[in-house]
Amino acid sequence: MSKGMRKGLATYGDPGFSLFLRKAFIKAMGFSDDALDRPIIGITNTFSDFNPCHGNVPRLIEAVKRGVMLAGGLPMEFPTVSIHESFSNPTSMFLRNLMAMDTEEMIRAQPMDAVVLIGGCDKTVPAQLMAAASANVPAIMLVTGPMLVGHYKGEILGACTDCRRLWGQHRAGEFSEAEIEEVSGRLAPTQGTCMVMGTASTMACVTEALGMSLPGTGSIPATHADRFRAAEATGARATAMAKAGGPTPRQIMTKAAFRNALVTLQALGGSTNGLVHLTAVAGRCGIRIDLDEVDDLGRKVPVLADLKPSGQHYLEHFHWSGGTMRMLRELKELLALDAPTIDGSTLGQSIDAAAEIPGQTIIRSRETALSATGAMAVLRGNLAPGGAIIKQSAASPKLMSHEGRAVVFESVEDLTNRIDDPNLDVTANDVLVMRNGGPRGAPGMPEAGYLPIPRKLARQGVKDMVRISDARMSGTAFGTIVLHITPESAIGGPLGLVRSGDRIKLDVPNRRIDMLVDDATLAQRRKEWQPPKEIDDTVRGYAGLFQRSVLQADEGCDFDFLVDGPRASHVKPR
Ligand code: FES
Repeated sequence: MSKGMRKGLATYGDPGFSLFLRKAFIKAMGFSDDALDRPIIGITNTFSDFNPCHGNVPRLIEAVKRGVMLAGGLPMEFPTVSIHESFSNPTSMFLRNLMAMDTEEMIRAQPMDAVVLIGGCDKTVPAQLMAAASANVPAIMLVTGPMLVGHYKGEILGACTDCRRLWGQHRAGEFSEAEIEEVSGRLAPTQGTCMVMGTASTMACVTEALGMSLPGTGSIPATHADRFRAAEATGARATAMAKAGGPTPRQIMTKAAFRNALVTLQALGGSTNGLVHLTAVAGRCGIRIDLDEVDDLGRKVPVLADLKPSGQHYLEHFHWSGGTMRMLRELKELLALDAPTIDGSTLGQSIDAAAEIPGQTIIRSRETALSATGAMAVLRGNLAPGGAIIKQSAASPKLMSHEGRAVVFESVEDLTNRIDDPNLDVTANDVLVMRNGGPRGAPGMPEAGYLPIPRKLARQGVKDMVRISDARMSGTAFGTIVLHITPESAIGGPLGLVRSGDRIKLDVPNRRIDMLVDDATLAQRRKEWQPPKEIDDTVRGYAGLFQRSVLQADEGCDFDFLVDGPRASHVKPR
């Protein structure tokens, strides 16, 4: 197989001419023949003025290039789509698959013997892992790393668990306009990703456990010198992989590696989004994540990381307590320790090498676990025949078994318009229901599943209620919230049949979510059901592709033609 500049030539019908032309053009940049004969290491540039979570990317690229050149390779930086959570309309999830396609095709189209993928903000790491799995060129992840914590009036703050908590207090009238404005300048004090165990931190740590980044690097703060040393080491390792021709992503991301990642997800108190993303990445490797296995691990794996929103602390504290590999030392019996990692060792060796920090309390033992069971549970029932997720580690224990009256919102817009209506018929014991928030219905499955407490109840001191939807929720959020109801209501899922006033029963110990409505009534409602107007297969462009191709949450919300396996049996592998 061709390497370096000879790899993947443009098609002119004469390979010699194609190489001649390529060299002629690249020499315009001042490269010597010696440089052009080296193994080529692609480096994704995901810097964007719209993406502060990737603010350190230019310096990371500089350090990766240094590592590549010290190891004898030629670094070649190239741009890809970059996505930030709060600068993506309608939602970042709508764009994840676009970034995955862009990244995959750019890796495939351009001559690189290995690639360093630099991501960080929630959707970027999953998109890059999906791309890596599909392109299957030797690849290594480097995350941008978490922000440092913020401070306000003596309190330590973190994005974005405290964004939500303080906004909730503002809604309840406890924080003035001036105070909330001041807080907005304190929540995200440095470049880097959200520093609670939200989706970005979850994916950074889970990627380490999956074996796709250098051990010990997932949680290094974005601004610390170690982050740039990790970048240099990542560049050097990518060069070694380029010379050796491997390992390839699919040699690392095996079924055993995904199980290791799921154990990590549960023990971290990780984001529910992490499950959707891991499912999508696994789908690119031809591996199906089984929700029953996820639930089974949820019963066996304790939450060990004392991090917000499940616990009290932040990523920098986790890192200096030993990080992901130190945490996994507590769970060795549940892990495939012989799973290979990108540095050429095994997960077991990486765990053994993790530092032991005397007196640290952030990474708990089984005996002192934050919770004896894992972060999330899988629910089924007549409301969610394909499954639903609850992050039990961030829920209120008193609401884990609850029956209440449904208060239904037809869409995110309906919720926005009515949730604070003083005349809304709602009590603290009711169950807030929102539909048409799934992959197709919204579209893009927005993080709207964290339904706000109605203002009039918030002002009475109500902090949590049972809330259910087919949407997602930010990994930084907390509450008794049932998410990812599958199939979604917009394609005919039973969530679309609930009416205000129905009784809803949540039973987390028995893993059930049901509406207490008899079958005959449900059958009649099904006859009357109409899809929402947003479902329109004739829409043009990327939105049309999304509408026609997006899969449900239990399949990772990937596009049907991108997964590898039975779902895409009509699609030839490339
Ligand atoms: Fe980028 Fe939170 S907004 S990680």
